Amino acid sequence: MTVPISSDVGAAVAALRAGALVALPTETVYGLAADASSADAVARVFAAKGRPSNHPVIVHLPSVRSLDAWAEQVPLWARSLARTLWPGPLTLVVPRASTVLDAVTGGQRTIGLRVPAHPVTLQVLERFGGGLAAPSANRFGRVSPTTAEHVIAEMGNVLQAQRGDLVLDGGACQVGVESTIVGAWDETPRLLRPGAVTAEQIAELTGLPVSVDPTGVRAPGSAESHYAPVSRVMAVEADALDGVLKSLDPATDVGVIAPSDREVTSSVVRLASPIDDDEYARQLYTALRKADSLSLDVVVAVLPHEAGVGLAVRDRLLRAATNQVTR
Ligand code: TXA
Ligand code: MG
Repeated sequence: MTVPISSDVGAAVAALRAGALVALPTETVYGLAADASSADAVARVFAAKGRPSNHPVIVHLPSVRSLDAWAEQVPLWARSLARTLWPGPLTLVVPRASTVLDAVTGGQRTIGLRVPAHPVTLQVLERFGGGLAAPSANRFGRVSPTTAEHVIAEMGNVLQAQRGDLVLDGGACQVGVESTIVGAWDETPRLLRPGAVTAEQIAELTGLPVSVDPTGVRAPGSAESHYAPVSRVMAVEADALDGVLKSLDPATDVGVIAPSDREVTSSVVRLASPIDDDEYARQLYTALRKADSLSLDVVVAVLPHEAGVGLAVRDRLLRAATNQVTR
């Protein structure tokens, strides 16, 4: 029995209350949600993803008012950031409340929390009332889904209709890359994963300097080869694109992601032609999936500038390219 795709909020809430898994839309990517206060339901999320049990999951909340049910000693700057930017693509890693399950935090003393900005999922959260543990709805280490169809392609054979699992369809995700993660356990905001909310924005809103790891942004517990398609990803700076394409063996099937104003030879598949970094973020994961569905050998992707959501796109591309920029 294939898992149903539904737009029924009531059915999703009933499924979650019964301990089932519901893939649901957020503004960033689709999440695979379960009742965060049920150890059994959370265990099923880890099993479905094939995710190691020491990787913490983000708990999604209906509003900032739920913050204190899940966290304690939240720094004032983080509280005010949450009030300003939630619902939105920002996850705060804060000291966890003592009642939070170890399965959710991977045994850490902190918890990742966010209020997603998607009308359908906000309705689910409001009616459900509690927190929903939801990692991205992909198999561990693979490309995050940004449509309900991607979720079916990723998880169709692990979600179980007879157990009440379902996929809630909320259309294509507006942001397209995962939320910004900010460490918020002391007086220093720490950028742990770049996303649509930028370090500059956080610095401006909090009045505090934001610490960014100069060796690259890495959330604790995140593997390097994340966000990768089967096709090999080569990340290139814009001025190296032509040279890299020329250097490839003519027998290789090549896909290219490059800005819309950039021409490339006709022998390659154009996977995406974003007009700006926002569109790049929205199209990135669909383009990487397309490379796999076409069985391409290589994806050559032009890195955007390190500004705005471009930094997040760079981060995901570099991880997919196992941290190498090809010259
Ligand atoms: O946009 C998003 O954040 C999406 C949507 C579904 O909300 N979710 C998402 O979840 O990307 P996931 O599980 O694929 O990535 C969450 C990452 C983990 O890999 C981990 O690095 C970090 O969040 N994280 C979660 N809780 C944490 C904690 N307590 N301490 C440190 N890092 C944490
Ligand atoms: Mg993920």
